[in-house]
Amino acid sequence: MIKEENLLMKEEDLILLSEDLLHKLDKQIPPQETEQFCEDLKTVINFHDKKYYVHTHPVITDFDYDRLFKKLVELESENPNLITADSPTQRVAKGLNKEFPTVQHLTPMMSLENTYNLDDLNEFDRKVREALTEKIIIEYVVEPKFDGSSIALVYESDHLTRAATRGNGVEGDEITQNAKAIRSIPLKANFSKYGIHRIEIRGEVIMELAVLEKLNQERQQQNEINKREQKKEVELFKNARNTAAGSLRLKDSSEVAARKLDAIIYQIGYAEDKEGKDITDIFESHEKNLEILNSLGFKTPYKEKGEFSNIHSVEAFCKHWEEKRDNYPVDIDGMVIKVNSIQQQQLIGKTSHHPKWAVAYKFKAKQANSVLRKVEYQVGRTGAVTPVAKIDPIQLMGVEISSISLHNEDFIAEKDIRLNDTVIVERAGDVIPYIVGSVKEMRKGGEEKIHFPKNCPSCSHHLVKPMDESVWRCINANCPAQLEEHLIHFASKQAMEISGLGEEIIRTFMREKIISDIVSIYQIDYDEVRKLEGWKDKSVQNLKDSIEASKKNELSRLIIGLGIRHIGSTTAKLLAKKVDYLTDFKSWTEEQYMEIEDIGPKVAQSLYQFFTDRENIKLIEQLERLGVNTHKTEEVLLSNKLDGKTFLFTGTLTRFSRDEAKILVEKNGGKNLNAVSPNLDYLIAGEKAGSKLSKAQKISSIKIIEENDFLKMIQ
Ligand code: IVH
Repeated sequence: MIKEENLLMKEEDLILLSEDLLHKLDKQIPPQETEQFCEDLKTVINFHDKKYYVHTHPVITDFDYDRLFKKLVELESENPNLITADSPTQRVAKGLNKEFPTVQHLTPMMSLENTYNLDDLNEFDRKVREALTEKIIIEYVVEPKFDGSSIALVYESDHLTRAATRGNGVEGDEITQNAKAIRSIPLKANFSKYGIHRIEIRGEVIMELAVLEKLNQERQQQNEINKREQKKEVELFKNARNTAAGSLRLKDSSEVAARKLDAIIYQIGYAEDKEGKDITDIFESHEKNLEILNSLGFKTPYKEKGEFSNIHSVEAFCKHWEEKRDNYPVDIDGMVIKVNSIQQQQLIGKTSHHPKWAVAYKFKAKQANSVLRKVEYQVGRTGAVTPVAKIDPIQLMGVEISSISLHNEDFIAEKDIRLNDTVIVERAGDVIPYIVGSVKEMRKGGEEKIHFPKNCPSCSHHLVKPMDESVWRCINANCPAQLEEHLIHFASKQAMEISGLGEEIIRTFMREKIISDIVSIYQIDYDEVRKLEGWKDKSVQNLKDSIEASKKNELSRLIIGLGIRHIGSTTAKLLAKKVDYLTDFKSWTEEQYMEIEDIGPKVAQSLYQFFTDRENIKLIEQLERLGVNTHKTEEVLLSNKLDGKTFLFTGTLTRFSRDEAKILVEKNGGKNLNAVSPNLDYLIAGEKAGSKLSKAQKISSIKIIEENDFLKMIQ
């Protein structure tokens, strides 16, 4: 199973919660449960977003992710009062690599909605036609969906001035120097010929499969030399997509050049003339855009695309490509269908995430057979026991797979998976492998039923399963396996960020009894560490330094590190501002927690239980005595431009998420309000603003402004 470091809620729980929600998606949700259902959807979607965008290690298929997302959109549109700042529908995506400077895209980079079958495509076509109302001819352009890493290139006065990764869609990492090392990106292009002064174009950086193979051959040869010289082996590249994405973030751009990457440009994101006038729609069609870009020296999906006047021919073209995808020199994971006319595109419009005039048709996942040899049971931070299948290693889309999560007892029972069964393993794109089921026809008689253990594989304590859950848990508070996971979480990047205390080191230290619990991290006997194999003065000093540094962390990191159920970084940051000392929470009631923005009953209950438990207070007090900061986080103001003013955001925001907007208000001295009232100074109205806007319009003292006006106020 993949290890998740930045656990806010526990990974196993989140995966199980996702499955639970997926089961319930098509069922009727009782009205009194809608709010909780929405909350759970938000929690799991945010988790999957992070797995996908931050870790590039998804734990759900795109198909299931889309089902969850669509359900949340549906519930929120039926119950707009349930839309909250932390809803994934209110943002494009999250997660930035801080090593390269962050830059803002000229307009947000949207993603595409996915379709998986012909019915979905028909539905897309129906909506497109509905949006255009009149019976006019629609032309679709269909092109490959390149499986690489998205890029945005800015040209000013014909020169490439900036390149950035997609990042969270609004902001990305500036990687200009590395983009310049890609030969298919022209350093100069004659845009001024068309009166374009500044333009942002978007595309995909990819690595051709032949290039990947050649680089791996070279690496293999290098390894033979390294072996002879007893040097460390260099790792082979696993697949083209990750190699392209990783290469864009290399520090040394000459190394990027050696990777022989390619860029395929498929869109004009924004264009303006010398006077700064928006001329993004300068050419009449997508096809024309590609033709012009191609003529200016960019690689475009020019030759591969097809044009169709009805959805049935689109479908046939997609199917045809699905069959020949293996012969194509570049990894493609689907096709993209776009309305050709730019005027029609504008009429059809977009949501906050994706254009409504384009859609992706995703190819089916790839499958392979293997044999299930063994099941191992892993114990997570809160005691959930997850079965993990050990299979004969197989290669699927360039990655070797030998270990796959079987999720829980019900999953094994539902699919009737047995030891020694031939199992079908599926992997879609970068999604982690999944066991589709076992091939019953291939049973020879030696297959054995899998018996879920009754006792914890780590401490032998008996396992329990609450009535309404599908997870077996070890409830021994001193279970070593749980403790180990707990310490790994405490030291992780998202929590106390003790860089010298990674997962493997924690496991070794636990085994060697150098640490036994959180407190013991701050009481390490470094002489004992020095006795361990591979530890020298320098590495011991580094460890000591990083542990010492963690004592000065701001309070929210400690709150995250304590591993309180349902507490993520946003809530931890809010909590860290509410008390002078962390232990002050011991006298708080559930109601007091619920007065904090965005904290609902589930979270309040979890906090109440945690801080009224004496053992937990003792732990915090011990940490304090050892020098760990348990004081309130002081706010750092960026400016006092919004001093004394009050703000409220409504509708769909495109420049930032609601959480980000609220933080901006606070950091510039302003105050956020939750409702429209005469106390409100500014209402920032995004797209589709509803009742709050109409209410505010009736109060003349409230200034109603747009996102850009707000940004101007703090710039
Ligand atoms: S068009 C506004 N065309 O697929 C529409 N995207 O979620 C912008 N992709 O991250 C996308 N090939 O990087 C478009 N021919 C193509 C594409 C393509 C690959 C990527 C793109 C985006 C993702 C869609």
